[in-house]
Amino acid sequence: MSSITVPAQAKILNGKDFLTMKESTPAAIADLLKLAQTIKGKLQAGEEYTPLKGKTLGMIFEKSSTRTRVSFEVGMMQLGGHALFLSGNDLQIGRGESISDTAKVLSEYIDGIMIRTFEHEKIMELAENASIPVINGLTDLAHPCQVLADFLTVIEIKGQLKGLKMSYIGDGNNVANSLMVGCAKMGMDFSIGCPEDYKPDEKVVNYAQKVAESTGSNIVVTTSAQDAIHNADIVYSDVWTSMGQEIENGVRLEAFKDYQINNELVKQAKSDYLFMHCLPAHRGEEVTGEVIDGPNSVVFHQAGNRLHAQKAVLVDLMS
Ligand code: CP
Ligand code: NVA
Repeated sequence: MSSITVPAQAKILNGKDFLTMKESTPAAIADLLKLAQTIKGKLQAGEEYTPLKGKTLGMIFEKSSTRTRVSFEVGMMQLGGHALFLSGNDLQIGRGESISDTAKVLSEYIDGIMIRTFEHEKIMELAENASIPVINGLTDLAHPCQVLADFLTVIEIKGQLKGLKMSYIGDGNNVANSLMVGCAKMGMDFSIGCPEDYKPDEKVVNYAQKVAESTGSNIVVTTSAQDAIHNADIVYSDVWTSMGQEIENGVRLEAFKDYQINNELVKQAKSDYLFMHCLPAHRGEEVTGEVIDGPNSVVFHQAGNRLHAQKAVLVDLMS
């Protein structure tokens, strides 16, 4: 049996679920990141840490995944628990069983649900009807687990979040929304350079700007990639066409052609900038190979941290 006890600060997150960055306070995000560092340290030291012994996480995927699926499954295994992969197509949900019935039934068998789906309303309905924690593994609106891993990576390399500037160049999508809110909460400046028609959700921008007033950060939405990237500590990229938008790919390739992160554009960033990308990447589209495979890129370190950041969420919500 493990001699390591669950950290005293668990229960960090407010509420039973982890759906967006909005519900978490800056202090909760900071504590979750500390917990992630502690749990990562235990793994690296070879210490057994199994607070989720006997617990099962159901992982519902209605979209593809490499990182989220593997990191959650391995995370549960390392924490002493078990993960079930549930394909949206194979569940009765794919044949019209209601979200609320699915939530109630799954609550009878398992201890937590991680879901990757389309409409954010769906995860909210699932969470409202489940008596067990629900974790967002990506919706069209948000990707909070990604942002926790990103922040863990920045802390490990730069030693801080507050006062840094993150510049995101590209589509105002789920990843951009969660980064923007996360940065506002942690006192980081965030600027997004994107075409007029692909700005992030206005409600999310307004919320982030309001939060930024209290944390002293600055949230900027601009159509100029050059302005957005100026003096950046972190340059961030995501695909131009997200899952579910494949039909728009041709239009998007044209709309985003001036928003590629390449060696010319990154001259505007600080010389020790970090290049980050949630992955999967399309080299030659949103970023060139010379940047993503270059010396400033930390994308694989970042991907690795999905495991450690999510283990903190799992321990906090499920132990
Ligand atoms: N970044 C991310 O969520 O990757 P996957 O789509 O592979 O899970
Ligand atoms: N914005 C991307 C992120 C993939 C991890 C998508 O939703 O497809």
